[in-house]
Amino acid sequence: MLQPILRFSKKTKDEKIDWLVANYLNNDKNSKNVLKQYWNNDKKLQKLHDGFIENTVSNYYLPFAIAPNFLINKELFAIPMVIEESSVVAAASNTAKFWLERGGFKTEVISTTKNGQIHINFYGDDLAIQTFFSETKSILIDSISEIEKNMKKRGGGLLDIILINATDSLEGYYQLHCTFETSDAMGANFINTCLEEIAKTLENTSKLHTDFILKNTFPEIVMSILSNYVPECLVKAQVSCPVEEMSANGMEGKTFVSKFIRAIEIAKIDKRRAVTHNKGIMNGIDAVILATGNDFRSVEAGIHAYASKNGNYTSLTNAKIENGIFIFSIEIPLAIGTIGGLTGLHPLVNFGLSLLQKPSAKKLMQIIAVAGLAQNFAALRSLVTTGIQRGHMKMHLANILNNLVVTQSETEKTLAYFKDHTITHSSVANFIKQLRK
Ligand code: MEV
Repeated sequence: MLQPILRFSKKTKDEKIDWLVANYLNNDKNSKNVLKQYWNNDKKLQKLHDGFIENTVSNYYLPFAIAPNFLINKELFAIPMVIEESSVVAAASNTAKFWLERGGFKTEVISTTKNGQIHINFYGDDLAIQTFFSETKSILIDSISEIEKNMKKRGGGLLDIILINATDSLEGYYQLHCTFETSDAMGANFINTCLEEIAKTLENTSKLHTDFILKNTFPEIVMSILSNYVPECLVKAQVSCPVEEMSANGMEGKTFVSKFIRAIEIAKIDKRRAVTHNKGIMNGIDAVILATGNDFRSVEAGIHAYASKNGNYTSLTNAKIENGIFIFSIEIPLAIGTIGGLTGLHPLVNFGLSLLQKPSAKKLMQIIAVAGLAQNFAALRSLVTTGIQRGHMKMHLANILNNLVVTQSETEKTLAYFKDHTITHSSVANFIKQLRK
Protein backbone atom coordinates (compact mmCIF):
# COMPACT_ATOMS: atom_id res chain seq x y z
CA MET A 1 0.00 0.00 0.00
CA LEU A 2 1.17 3.52 -0.78
CA GLN A 3 2.71 5.28 2.21
CA PRO A 4 2.12 8.98 2.94
CA ILE A 5 5.17 11.13 2.30
CA LEU A 6 6.58 13.35 5.02
CA ARG A 7 8.29 16.69 4.44
CA PHE A 8 7.39 16.63 0.71
CA SER A 9 7.84 20.38 0.47
CA LYS A 10 11.45 20.07 1.69
CA LYS A 11 12.45 17.76 -1.17
CA THR A 12 14.10 19.08 -4.32
CA LYS A 13 12.03 19.38 -7.46
CA ASP A 14 13.67 16.25 -8.94
CA GLU A 15 13.09 14.28 -5.75
CA LYS A 16 9.43 15.28 -5.74
CA ILE A 17 8.99 14.21 -9.35
CA ASP A 18 10.85 10.93 -8.85
CA TRP A 19 8.61 10.14 -5.91
CA LEU A 20 5.47 10.92 -7.93
CA VAL A 21 6.66 8.86 -10.90
CA ALA A 22 7.59 5.91 -8.70
CA ASN A 23 4.43 5.97 -6.59
CA TYR A 24 1.67 7.14 -8.92
CA LEU A 25 2.86 6.75 -12.49
CA ASN A 26 4.21 3.18 -12.67
CA ASN A 27 7.76 4.46 -13.05
CA ASP A 28 6.89 5.76 -16.49
CA LYS A 29 9.99 7.79 -17.34
CA ASN A 30 8.10 9.69 -20.03
CA SER A 31 5.93 11.39 -17.43
CA LYS A 32 9.03 13.05 -16.01
CA ASN A 33 9.80 14.34 -19.50
CA VAL A 34 6.28 15.70 -19.80
CA LEU A 35 6.90 17.86 -16.76
CA LYS A 36 10.47 18.76 -17.70
CA GLN A 37 9.69 19.90 -21.24
CA TYR A 38 7.85 22.85 -19.71
CA TRP A 39 10.74 23.95 -17.52
CA ASN A 40 12.18 27.24 -18.65
CA ASN A 41 15.81 27.23 -19.82
CA ASP A 42 16.29 30.57 -18.16
CA LYS A 43 17.10 29.35 -14.64
CA LYS A 44 16.35 32.70 -13.02
CA LEU A 45 12.94 32.88 -14.63
CA GLN A 46 12.20 29.28 -13.66
CA LYS A 47 13.19 30.00 -10.07
CA LEU A 48 10.80 32.95 -10.03
CA HIS A 49 7.92 30.76 -11.18
CA ASP A 50 8.86 27.93 -8.81
CA GLY A 51 8.62 30.41 -5.98
CA PHE A 52 5.04 31.56 -6.64
CA ILE A 53 3.60 28.51 -4.87
CA GLU A 54 4.75 25.48 -2.91
CA ASN A 55 5.72 22.10 -4.40
CA THR A 56 6.06 23.37 -7.98
CA VAL A 57 7.05 20.59 -10.38
CA SER A 58 6.47 22.29 -13.72
CA ASN A 59 4.88 25.26 -15.48
CA TYR A 60 1.35 25.07 -16.88
CA TYR A 61 1.03 26.93 -20.17
CA LEU A 62 -2.11 28.73 -21.24
CA PRO A 63 -2.23 30.83 -24.41
CA PHE A 64 -1.55 34.54 -23.90
CA ALA A 65 -3.42 36.29 -26.70
CA ILE A 66 -4.41 39.77 -27.77
CA ALA A 67 -7.80 41.18 -28.71
CA PRO A 68 -7.04 44.46 -30.53
CA ASN A 69 -9.21 47.43 -31.55
CA PHE A 70 -11.11 48.01 -28.32
CA LEU A 71 -12.21 51.63 -28.36
CA ILE A 72 -12.95 52.57 -24.73
CA ASN A 73 -13.85 56.17 -23.89
CA LYS A 74 -12.17 57.19 -27.17
CA GLU A 75 -8.90 55.40 -26.26
CA LEU A 76 -7.81 52.41 -28.34
CA PHE A 77 -6.66 49.31 -26.45
CA ALA A 78 -5.13 45.96 -27.40
CA ILE A 79 -6.39 43.76 -24.57
CA PRO A 80 -4.27 40.83 -23.32
CA MET A 81 -6.25 37.65 -22.62
CA VAL A 82 -5.18 34.34 -21.09
CA ILE A 83 -7.65 31.53 -21.74
CA GLU A 84 -7.86 27.99 -23.09
CA GLU A 85 -11.28 28.19 -24.79
CA SER A 86 -10.66 28.39 -28.53
CA SER A 87 -13.31 30.89 -29.61
CA VAL A 88 -13.07 33.52 -26.84
CA VAL A 89 -10.35 35.78 -28.23
CA ALA A 90 -11.71 35.60 -31.78
CA ALA A 91 -15.14 36.58 -30.43
CA ALA A 92 -13.64 39.47 -28.45
CA SER A 93 -11.75 40.74 -31.49
CA ASN A 94 -14.84 40.55 -33.71
CA THR A 95 -16.92 42.40 -31.15
CA ALA A 96 -14.23 45.06 -30.69
CA LYS A 97 -14.32 45.70 -34.43
CA PHE A 98 -18.12 45.75 -34.55
CA TRP A 99 -18.28 48.44 -31.85
CA LEU A 100 -15.23 50.31 -33.15
CA GLU A 101 -17.39 51.15 -36.15
CA ARG A 102 -20.24 52.24 -33.87
CA GLY A 103 -18.57 54.64 -31.42
CA GLY A 104 -16.87 52.16 -29.10
CA PHE A 105 -17.45 51.42 -25.41
CA LYS A 106 -18.26 53.98 -22.71
CA THR A 107 -17.30 53.13 -19.16
CA GLU A 108 -17.54 54.61 -15.70
CA VAL A 109 -16.25 53.61 -12.27
CA ILE A 110 -19.15 54.08 -9.87
CA SER A 111 -17.30 53.42 -6.60
CA THR A 112 -14.10 51.80 -5.30
CA THR A 113 -14.77 50.94 -1.66
CA LYS A 114 -13.64 47.51 -0.40
CA ASN A 115 -14.55 45.89 2.87
CA GLY A 116 -13.70 43.34 5.51
CA GLN A 117 -15.20 42.06 8.74
CA ILE A 118 -14.09 41.12 12.21
CA HIS A 119 -16.49 38.39 13.29
CA ILE A 120 -17.28 38.46 16.99
CA ASN A 121 -19.12 36.38 19.59
CA PHE A 122 -20.71 38.41 22.35
CA TYR A 123 -23.40 37.05 24.63
CA GLY A 124 -23.79 40.09 26.92
CA ASP A 125 -26.03 43.17 26.78
CA ASP A 126 -26.22 44.87 23.41
CA LEU A 127 -25.88 48.25 25.12
CA ALA A 128 -22.62 47.14 26.74
CA ILE A 129 -20.90 46.30 23.46
CA GLN A 130 -22.39 49.34 21.69
CA THR A 131 -21.05 51.64 24.44
CA PHE A 132 -17.69 49.89 24.41
CA PHE A 133 -17.48 50.29 20.64
CA SER A 134 -18.27 54.01 20.62
CA GLU A 135 -15.71 54.60 23.39
CA THR A 136 -13.06 52.47 21.65
CA LYS A 137 -13.59 53.24 17.95
CA SER A 138 -10.86 55.90 17.79
CA ILE A 139 -8.39 53.56 19.54
CA LEU A 140 -9.18 50.85 16.99
CA ILE A 141 -8.61 53.30 14.15
CA ASP A 142 -5.35 54.58 15.67
CA SER A 143 -4.07 51.04 16.13
CA ILE A 144 -3.44 50.69 12.38
CA SER A 145 -1.82 54.09 11.79
CA GLU A 146 1.61 52.51 11.09
CA ILE A 147 0.14 49.87 8.78
CA GLU A 148 -1.83 52.51 6.89
CA LYS A 149 1.02 54.98 6.44
CA ASN A 150 2.04 54.03 2.89
CA MET A 151 -1.49 53.31 1.75
CA LYS A 152 -2.57 56.75 2.99
CA LYS A 153 0.20 58.36 0.93
CA ARG A 154 -1.36 56.68 -2.12
CA GLY A 155 -4.80 58.02 -1.25
CA GLY A 156 -6.09 54.87 0.44
CA GLY A 157 -6.65 53.59 3.95
CA LEU A 158 -9.39 52.68 6.37
CA LEU A 159 -12.58 54.65 5.70
CA ASP A 160 -14.80 53.62 8.59
CA ILE A 161 -15.69 50.93 11.11
CA ILE A 162 -19.24 50.17 12.18
CA LEU A 163 -20.49 47.65 14.69
CA ILE A 164 -23.28 45.43 13.39
CA ASN A 165 -25.58 43.50 15.70
CA ALA A 166 -26.44 40.34 13.76
CA THR A 167 -27.86 38.44 16.73
CA ASP A 168 -31.25 38.18 14.99
CA SER A 169 -29.64 35.92 12.41
CA LEU A 170 -27.16 34.11 14.66
CA GLU A 171 -27.21 34.10 18.44
CA GLY A 172 -24.40 36.17 19.96
CA TYR A 173 -23.05 37.22 16.56
CA TYR A 174 -21.68 40.71 16.03
CA GLN A 175 -19.31 42.04 13.44
CA LEU A 176 -17.11 45.04 12.89
CA HIS A 177 -17.70 45.99 9.29
CA CYS A 178 -14.66 47.92 8.05
CA THR A 179 -14.50 49.80 4.77
CA PHE A 180 -11.30 50.62 2.88
CA GLU A 181 -9.92 52.44 -0.13
CA THR A 182 -6.89 50.61 -1.51
CA SER A 183 -6.01 52.83 -4.48
CA ASP A 184 -4.21 50.83 -7.23
CA ALA A 185 -3.68 47.74 -5.09
CA MET A 186 -6.19 44.92 -4.87
CA GLY A 187 -5.48 45.36 -1.18
CA ALA A 188 -6.23 41.89 0.20
CA ASN A 189 -3.05 41.75 2.30
CA PHE A 190 -3.45 45.33 3.43
CA ILE A 191 -7.06 44.81 4.49
CA ASN A 192 -6.36 41.53 6.27
CA THR A 193 -3.38 43.00 8.14
CA CYS A 194 -5.51 45.98 9.25
CA LEU A 195 -8.37 43.73 10.34
CA GLU A 196 -6.14 41.45 12.39
CA GLU A 197 -4.55 44.43 14.11
CA ILE A 198 -7.93 46.03 14.87
CA ALA A 199 -9.18 42.68 16.21
CA LYS A 200 -6.15 42.34 18.48
CA THR A 201 -6.66 45.89 19.78
CA LEU A 202 -10.34 45.23 20.37
CA GLU A 203 -9.57 42.07 22.32
CA ASN A 204 -6.92 43.77 24.47
CA THR A 205 -9.02 46.87 25.12
CA SER A 206 -12.10 44.87 25.99
CA LYS A 207 -10.21 43.11 28.79
CA LEU A 208 -9.88 46.49 30.55
CA HIS A 209 -13.49 47.54 30.02
CA THR A 210 -15.30 47.81 33.39
CA ASP A 211 -18.71 46.74 32.20
CA PHE A 212 -17.34 43.54 30.64
CA ILE A 213 -15.23 42.87 33.76
CA LEU A 214 -18.21 43.32 36.09
CA LYS A 215 -20.36 40.88 34.13
CA ASN A 216 -17.40 38.67 33.23
CA THR A 217 -18.65 38.65 29.63
CA PHE A 218 -16.19 39.68 26.94
CA PRO A 219 -16.36 39.88 23.16
CA GLU A 220 -14.51 36.97 21.57
CA ILE A 221 -12.91 37.29 18.14
CA VAL A 222 -13.91 34.43 15.83
CA MET A 223 -11.95 35.57 12.77
CA SER A 224 -10.94 38.60 10.73
CA ILE A 225 -10.97 38.56 6.94
CA LEU A 226 -11.72 40.75 3.93
CA SER A 227 -14.90 40.12 1.97
CA ASN A 228 -14.81 39.23 -1.71
CA TYR A 229 -18.33 40.58 -1.99
CA VAL A 230 -17.65 44.16 -3.06
CA PRO A 231 -20.91 45.76 -4.23
CA GLU A 232 -19.42 49.17 -3.37
CA CYS A 233 -16.51 48.62 -5.80
CA LEU A 234 -18.49 48.94 -9.00
CA VAL A 235 -17.86 49.59 -12.66
CA LYS A 236 -20.21 50.07 -15.58
CA ALA A 237 -19.61 49.61 -19.32
CA GLN A 238 -22.01 50.37 -22.13
CA VAL A 239 -22.40 50.41 -25.90
CA SER A 240 -25.16 52.03 -27.90
CA CYS A 241 -26.13 52.47 -31.52
CA PRO A 242 -29.22 53.16 -33.66
CA VAL A 243 -31.24 49.96 -34.05
CA GLU A 244 -31.13 50.05 -37.84
CA GLU A 245 -27.30 49.91 -37.76
CA MET A 246 -27.37 46.74 -35.69
CA SER A 247 -27.74 44.13 -38.43
CA ALA A 248 -25.73 41.01 -37.60
CA ASN A 249 -24.87 37.76 -39.39
CA GLY A 250 -27.31 38.55 -42.18
CA MET A 251 -30.16 39.43 -39.81
CA GLU A 252 -31.60 42.94 -40.12
CA GLY A 253 -31.08 45.28 -37.15
CA LYS A 254 -34.65 45.39 -35.82
CA THR A 255 -35.05 41.61 -35.70
CA PHE A 256 -31.57 41.08 -34.30
CA VAL A 257 -32.01 43.64 -31.50
CA SER A 258 -35.43 42.30 -30.59
CA LYS A 259 -34.09 38.72 -30.29
CA PHE A 260 -31.01 39.98 -28.44
CA ILE A 261 -33.11 41.82 -25.85
CA ARG A 262 -35.35 38.77 -25.53
CA ALA A 263 -32.27 36.63 -24.78
CA ILE A 264 -31.39 38.97 -21.92
CA GLU A 265 -34.97 38.97 -20.62
CA ILE A 266 -34.76 35.16 -20.49
CA ALA A 267 -31.44 35.33 -18.60
CA LYS A 268 -33.09 37.71 -16.16
CA ILE A 269 -35.85 35.30 -15.16
CA ASP A 270 -34.39 31.83 -15.75
CA LYS A 271 -31.54 30.77 -13.46
CA ARG A 272 -30.32 27.98 -15.74
CA ARG A 273 -29.92 30.40 -18.62
CA ALA A 274 -28.57 33.18 -16.36
CA VAL A 275 -25.67 31.03 -15.15
CA THR A 276 -24.59 30.18 -18.72
CA HIS A 277 -25.17 33.75 -19.86
CA ASN A 278 -22.92 35.01 -17.04
CA LYS A 279 -20.38 32.24 -17.67
CA GLY A 280 -19.93 33.70 -21.15
CA ILE A 281 -19.33 37.11 -19.58
CA MET A 282 -16.72 35.55 -17.29
CA ASN A 283 -14.93 34.14 -20.36
CA GLY A 284 -13.90 37.70 -21.13
CA ILE A 285 -13.43 38.90 -17.57
CA ASP A 286 -11.34 35.97 -16.32
CA ALA A 287 -9.10 36.08 -19.38
CA VAL A 288 -8.09 39.69 -18.66
CA ILE A 289 -7.96 39.06 -14.91
CA LEU A 290 -5.44 36.25 -15.54
CA ALA A 291 -3.40 38.22 -18.08
CA THR A 292 -3.07 41.08 -15.59
CA GLY A 293 -2.10 38.87 -12.65
CA ASN A 294 -5.29 39.34 -10.67
CA ASP A 295 -7.22 36.86 -8.53
CA PHE A 296 -9.91 35.29 -10.71
CA ARG A 297 -11.44 33.32 -7.82
CA SER A 298 -12.21 36.44 -5.81
CA VAL A 299 -13.57 38.21 -8.86
CA GLU A 300 -15.74 35.20 -9.82
CA ALA A 301 -17.10 34.82 -6.28
CA GLY A 302 -17.88 38.54 -5.99
CA ILE A 303 -19.49 38.86 -9.40
CA HIS A 304 -21.74 35.81 -9.01
CA ALA A 305 -22.86 37.01 -5.58
CA TYR A 306 -23.65 40.38 -7.15
CA ALA A 307 -25.70 38.62 -9.82
CA SER A 308 -28.01 37.46 -7.03
CA LYS A 309 -28.02 40.66 -4.99
CA ASN A 310 -31.81 40.95 -5.21
CA GLY A 311 -32.43 37.39 -4.10
CA ASN A 312 -32.54 35.73 -7.52
CA TYR A 313 -29.53 34.86 -9.63
CA THR A 314 -29.91 36.92 -12.80
CA SER A 315 -28.20 38.37 -15.88
CA LEU A 316 -25.29 40.74 -15.26
CA THR A 317 -26.06 42.57 -18.50
CA ASN A 318 -28.99 44.73 -19.53
CA ALA A 319 -30.31 45.77 -22.93
CA LYS A 320 -33.04 48.15 -24.05
CA ILE A 321 -34.13 50.42 -26.86
CA GLU A 322 -34.55 54.12 -26.08
CA ASN A 323 -35.68 56.52 -28.82
CA GLY A 324 -34.57 54.10 -31.51
CA ILE A 325 -31.17 53.54 -29.88
CA PHE A 326 -30.10 50.08 -28.75
CA ILE A 327 -28.32 50.31 -25.38
CA PHE A 328 -26.42 47.36 -23.96
CA SER A 329 -24.64 47.53 -20.60
CA ILE A 330 -23.02 45.69 -17.73
CA GLU A 331 -22.50 46.65 -14.10
CA ILE A 332 -20.19 44.50 -12.01
CA PRO A 333 -18.16 44.66 -8.82
CA LEU A 334 -14.41 44.32 -9.42
CA ALA A 335 -11.78 44.44 -6.69
CA ILE A 336 -8.58 44.28 -8.70
CA GLY A 337 -5.12 45.82 -8.61
CA THR A 338 -2.40 47.04 -10.94
CA ILE A 339 0.32 47.11 -8.28
CA GLY A 340 1.30 44.51 -5.70
CA GLY A 341 0.74 40.75 -5.87
CA LEU A 342 1.91 39.12 -9.11
CA THR A 343 1.75 42.40 -11.03
CA GLY A 344 5.36 43.34 -10.39
CA LEU A 345 6.69 39.78 -10.40
CA HIS A 346 5.37 37.87 -13.39
CA PRO A 347 7.07 39.12 -16.58
CA LEU A 348 4.01 38.38 -18.73
CA VAL A 349 1.71 40.19 -16.33
CA ASN A 350 4.08 43.11 -16.46
CA PHE A 351 3.95 42.91 -20.27
CA GLY A 352 0.14 42.80 -20.23
CA LEU A 353 -0.07 45.84 -18.00
CA SER A 354 2.47 47.72 -20.13
CA LEU A 355 0.39 46.89 -23.20
CA LEU A 356 -2.54 48.52 -21.43
CA GLN A 357 -0.30 51.55 -20.77
CA LYS A 358 0.18 50.76 -17.06
CA PRO A 359 -3.42 51.47 -16.11
CA SER A 360 -4.63 52.54 -12.69
CA ALA A 361 -6.87 50.01 -10.96
CA LYS A 362 -9.84 52.18 -11.94
CA LYS A 363 -8.88 52.06 -15.60
CA LEU A 364 -8.30 48.31 -15.48
CA MET A 365 -11.74 47.85 -13.90
CA GLN A 366 -13.19 49.58 -16.97
CA ILE A 367 -11.18 47.50 -19.44
CA ILE A 368 -12.22 44.28 -17.71
CA ALA A 369 -15.90 45.28 -17.67
CA VAL A 370 -15.64 45.96 -21.41
CA ALA A 371 -14.11 42.51 -21.99
CA GLY A 372 -17.08 40.96 -20.16
CA LEU A 373 -19.66 43.01 -22.05
CA ALA A 374 -17.98 42.27 -25.39
CA GLN A 375 -17.95 38.54 -24.69
CA ASN A 376 -21.65 38.56 -23.82
CA PHE A 377 -22.39 40.51 -27.00
CA ALA A 378 -20.46 37.99 -29.09
CA ALA A 379 -22.19 35.01 -27.47
CA LEU A 380 -25.71 36.45 -27.81
CA ARG A 381 -25.05 37.62 -31.34
CA SER A 382 -24.17 34.07 -32.36
CA LEU A 383 -26.87 32.44 -30.26
CA VAL A 384 -29.75 34.47 -31.71
CA THR A 385 -28.49 34.34 -35.31
CA THR A 386 -26.35 31.44 -36.54
CA GLY A 387 -26.14 29.43 -33.31
CA ILE A 388 -23.01 29.18 -31.23
CA GLN A 389 -21.50 26.01 -32.65
CA ARG A 390 -20.60 27.32 -36.09
CA GLY A 391 -18.04 29.83 -34.85
CA HIS A 392 -17.05 27.81 -31.82
CA MET A 393 -16.35 24.60 -33.72
CA LYS A 394 -14.57 26.49 -36.49
CA MET A 395 -12.07 27.62 -33.87
CA HIS A 396 -12.09 24.22 -32.20
CA LEU A 397 -11.30 22.45 -35.48
CA ALA A 398 -7.60 23.22 -34.98
CA ASN A 399 -7.69 21.39 -31.64
CA ILE A 400 -9.44 18.40 -33.20
CA LEU A 401 -6.84 18.26 -35.97
CA ASN A 402 -4.00 18.46 -33.46
CA ASN A 403 -5.63 15.67 -31.54
CA LEU A 404 -5.87 13.49 -34.65
CA VAL A 405 -2.25 14.22 -35.71
CA VAL A 406 -2.72 15.15 -39.36
CA THR A 407 -0.42 16.21 -42.20
CA GLN A 408 -0.35 19.70 -43.75
CA SER A 409 -2.22 18.49 -46.84
CA GLU A 410 -4.86 16.72 -44.71
CA THR A 411 -5.28 19.92 -42.70
CA GLU A 412 -5.85 21.98 -45.83
CA LYS A 413 -8.39 19.52 -47.27
CA THR A 414 -10.22 19.32 -43.91
CA LEU A 415 -10.39 23.10 -43.52
CA ALA A 416 -11.78 23.46 -47.04
CA TYR A 417 -14.37 20.71 -46.58
CA PHE A 418 -15.61 21.93 -43.19
CA LYS A 419 -16.17 25.48 -44.39
CA ASP A 420 -19.74 24.40 -45.13
CA HIS A 421 -20.12 21.14 -43.20
CA THR A 422 -21.00 20.59 -39.55
CA ILE A 423 -17.92 20.10 -37.39
CA THR A 424 -17.91 17.43 -34.71
CA HIS A 425 -15.00 15.35 -33.47
CA SER A 426 -16.37 12.25 -35.20
CA SER A 427 -17.26 14.00 -38.48
CA VAL A 428 -13.68 15.29 -38.71
CA ALA A 429 -12.21 11.90 -37.73
CA ASN A 430 -14.36 10.18 -40.39
CA PHE A 431 -13.34 12.70 -43.01
CA ILE A 432 -9.64 12.10 -42.27
CA LYS A 433 -10.24 8.33 -42.37
CA GLN A 434 -11.80 8.68 -45.83
CA LEU A 435 -8.87 10.80 -47.00
CA ARG A 436 -6.46 8.11 -45.89
CA LYS A 437 -8.25 5.26 -47.68
C1 MEV B 1 -19.39 29.31 -23.77
O1 MEV B 1 -18.13 29.32 -23.16
C2 MEV B 1 -20.17 30.53 -23.37
C3 MEV B 1 -21.62 30.58 -23.86
O2 MEV B 1 -22.31 29.41 -23.46
C4 MEV B 1 -22.24 31.81 -23.25
C5 MEV B 1 -23.73 31.95 -23.50
O3 MEV B 1 -24.42 30.94 -23.69
O4 MEV B 1 -24.20 33.10 -23.42
C6 MEV B 1 -21.66 30.63 -25.37
